[in-house]
Amino acid sequence: MEQYKVKDISLAPQGRLQIELAERRMGALLEVRKRFAREKPLAGVTVGMALHVTKETAVLVRTLRSGGAEVAITGCNPLSTQDDVAAALAEEGVAVFAHKGESNEEYYDFLNRVIEFMKVEVRTPSESPPLRGGEQSISSPVPILENRGSSAAAGTRGEARRGGRNLITIDDGGDLVGEIHKKHPEFIANLIGGTEETTTGLIRLRAMERDGALKYPVVAVNDNKTKHLMDNYYGTGQSTLDGITRATNILWAGKTVVVCGYGSCGKGVALRARGMGSNVIVCEVDAFRALQAVMDGFRVMPLAEAATLGDIFITVTGDKHVLRPEHFSKMKSGAILANSGHFDAEIDLKGLREMAKGVRTVRTMLDEYTLPVDSSQSTVHSKSTQTVNREPMTDDRVLYVAGEGRLVNLAAAEGHPSEVMSLSFCGQALACAYLVENLGKLEPKVYVLPSRVDDDIAALQLEAMEVRKDELTEEQRKYLSSWEEGT
Ligand SMILES: NC(=O)c1ccc[n+]([C@@H]2O[C@H](COP(=O)([O-])OP(=O)(O)OC[C@H]3O[C@@H](n4cnc5c(N)ncnc54)[C@H](O)[C@@H]3O)[C@@H](O)[C@H]2O)c1
Repeated sequence: MEQYKVKDISLAPQGRLQIELAERRMGALLEVRKRFAREKPLAGVTVGMALHVTKETAVLVRTLRSGGAEVAITGCNPLSTQDDVAAALAEEGVAVFAHKGESNEEYYDFLNRVIEFMKVEVRTPSESPPLRGGEQSISSPVPILENRGSSAAAGTRGEARRGGRNLITIDDGGDLVGEIHKKHPEFIANLIGGTEETTTGLIRLRAMERDGALKYPVVAVNDNKTKHLMDNYYGTGQSTLDGITRATNILWAGKTVVVCGYGSCGKGVALRARGMGSNVIVCEVDAFRALQAVMDGFRVMPLAEAATLGDIFITVTGDKHVLRPEHFSKMKSGAILANSGHFDAEIDLKGLREMAKGVRTVRTMLDEYTLPVDSSQSTVHSKSTQTVNREPMTDDRVLYVAGEGRLVNLAAAEGHPSEVMSLSFCGQALACAYLVENLGKLEPKVYVLPSRVDDDIAALQLEAMEVRKDELTEEQRKYLSSWEEGT
């Protein structure tokens, strides 16, 4: 089996520089790495990952290896891989299958390569092939911080299964778990558990749990307070605007920005857009969230009304076909459409293509759709999904789609800043350790980590930022836990 499949292995030196840069901003995760290097909680574990292959993910990979794990990784989105980082990981001996711009077939092929890698790992020693070529021939660069773990320590902690290793999946969006359940059910018995990074993945996993279809335990890392706050709120808020800015170079001040979905991500996006001087309209389907948006000072209205007002539309709902032809037909010429929800289903691109007279890519990650002038009143006539490249006519309307409708912060920018991912990935690393510690005790359900893990991660981050906080006095501790003391 091939050890890796990346765009260009010669990009590795640049990728290593990127990973080093990320490491300097990921102090909390580096503390976890130090612990892992000392305690080897993942000795004997193989982790199969489907995460955005970015410099920050590479820091997580190094942390897991420090804890004793073997790692195979692929992307969780066809456009989010940083090719230099993938090359650097491959050169370090990680089984990495990813490149930016994967076709749908390649995307699923790579998921299955990760699964195949894990399958090799559960073979009994007599069945096992010799070490994979990459491990023998590619020397690891000098580690930047703590020493990274080696498989030599395998078997000292986790209970070995079938003479092989304990297997864990780390997923972002649920495609890896879905692929295992659908195509490799016989393999599930070998998995001690999994972790899930994002809201969309959890929606799927909880639906599987409800239907009795989930066959191994999964930790909802997305539900860590520290992850939600830093990643969904601050991270998505900043990096979504970053992606749209890079794709369009638009001025935000004075623009009307329509944010669809006022969950953790939508709140962050709305907050940052307001901070840039935009007039923000929120569209929601949930009454509580809509009320919260109003109380936070945003205009709330149905999308059918906002469609005529917006200059920039951003979807962050985790839902399907939020922006669709009935909205496209009302939008101003020049409006920009972007999605920062997990899947590219939020903007009905097929519907837009069918309305369009032409599509052309006007710059990297920005497609211009030319709509007939009368599309603002007409019902949509279905044409072939194939569109032609042609010059727009002066009186035609145009709409711009950033990042091909995929998560714009990763497709058109670099995803979350490293500081943000540091906290999310502390959660991932500690969730893997939790699965090993609780081996044999967990049922095939979705679990949330105990709150002490969140407290631990927050404390690590404060330490990394050199921020000190107050401590309760003994008197206060007693007061806050008693019911006897009154006014
Ligand atoms: N871009 C990123 O880096 C990034 C980071 C974290 C999460 N995500 C993804 O972003 C999406 C949102 O995540 P979240 O944590 O904010 O989820 P959430 O569940 O907290 O919020 C989603 C909101 O969208 C609303 N909604 C659903 N359908 C809608 C519709 N048709 N119109 C208007 N509102 C609608 C829901 O009522 C909810 O309030 C998910 O797909 C998640 O996986 C992306």
